[in-house]
Amino acid sequence: MVSGRPHRAVASPRVINVEDLRRLARRRLPKLLFDYIDGGAEDEVTLRANREAFAAVTFRPRQAVAVSACDLRTTVLGAELALPALLGPVGYSRAMHPHGEVGAARAAGAAGTGYVLSTVSGYRLEDVRAATSGPVWYQLYPVGGRAAAEGAIARARAAGYAALVVTVDTGVAGLRERDVRNGMGQLVGGPLLAKLRYLPQLLAHPQWLAAFLVHGGLPVLPNIVVPGRGPMELVDVNTALGHTPITWADMRWVRDLWPGPIVIKGVLTGEDARRAVDGGAAAIVVSNHGGRQLDGAPASLRALPEVAAAVNGRAEILMDGGVRRGSDILKAICLGARAVLLGRAYAYGLAAAGEAGVARVLEILRTDLERSLKLLGCPSISQLDRSFVDVPGLARGAPEPAAVSDGQRVT
Ligand code: FNR
Repeated sequence: MVSGRPHRAVASPRVINVEDLRRLARRRLPKLLFDYIDGGAEDEVTLRANREAFAAVTFRPRQAVAVSACDLRTTVLGAELALPALLGPVGYSRAMHPHGEVGAARAAGAAGTGYVLSTVSGYRLEDVRAATSGPVWYQLYPVGGRAAAEGAIARARAAGYAALVVTVDTGVAGLRERDVRNGMGQLVGGPLLAKLRYLPQLLAHPQWLAAFLVHGGLPVLPNIVVPGRGPMELVDVNTALGHTPITWADMRWVRDLWPGPIVIKGVLTGEDARRAVDGGAAAIVVSNHGGRQLDGAPASLRALPEVAAAVNGRAEILMDGGVRRGSDILKAICLGARAVLLGRAYAYGLAAAGEAGVARVLEILRTDLERSLKLLGCPSISQLDRSFVDVPGLARGAPEPAAVSDGQRVT
């Protein structure tokens, strides 16, 4: 199936950060596929805000502290992770590279962390589960209707998925203008003649094209099986999203089908966080879908303190949106997250070099985390708190920075 052989491009000493992987991805992919990963909704205000929010938060390092070894481990929904970052759900991963969801999940497991499989996946959920030693969660869009969703949930239970992630910010697909201009829909679902327009763009990326064709082109979606109709075609997903928005009233239906932990992804306010917890969520992902849905939604990092205050320890809190460096992960933890989900950061790696590219991204982030923790004068992820950051004008509804007790101070 997929192989994890070292990949020359990503092993280069010149590949030192996620932006380098992004550049490699841009080179390997046809423009319309790169833009599908890279772009956001409308004016991309929220997409940019996610990064700007991280830049605005500054550290309060504790200098002249000897930190010989750093403990990056954390526990999320009872599973011990080697670092506080999981791979979040990224649809269409198999179109980025034939390794797709299987390769990404395997890289996550090898790095000691978890993987969240999108409903919009090109591999069977059973194969993804079998590929990794780490925990896997299934992300649910009820596209294709309730019966299709019920089938996927039952399969995810049987396969050993540890949590069900319900994404609540995708009642309709956001307007991703790059995709519209690039004719993404035409390429996926248009008539053959319309597809010819893209031929020069595809031929200009022979490496991607050859791998894509050898592995069967655009797959159907094997985890969205509509009874009587079979697996859904890729082209139908965006329309189907609008037909089956999920509401708080549906949580009971989900609860009855899934006895394990439920994660609500896409929460940006304290009010919604309380609704999610009251509905039985074991964890919440503070997320604006990487700026791909409602443009003008706040940066996830800005929303995080308000959500953390509202949840008040009743559920675990994760966040995503704009995480590109280990220091971003530390800032998110200081502001109340237990761990982060990675989106584009690993999608760039996957697009650049498959499983090896994802592994490289995780390695970069792991060494970033160690170095930044040492520079911060903190030996352990578990000792991070609000006292390690300054948040100018950022912490809506957040409590004042906690006083630093002697127990927390690193000596
Ligand atoms: C996503 N995201 C996403 N979320 C989800 O719940 N189901 C999905 O199928 C997808 N698909 C998807 C595809 C692509 C190409 C991207 C970039 C993102 C959102 C994703 O899980 C996450 O919330 C964001 O990607 C986080 O922002 P960053 O890290 O990409 O800036």
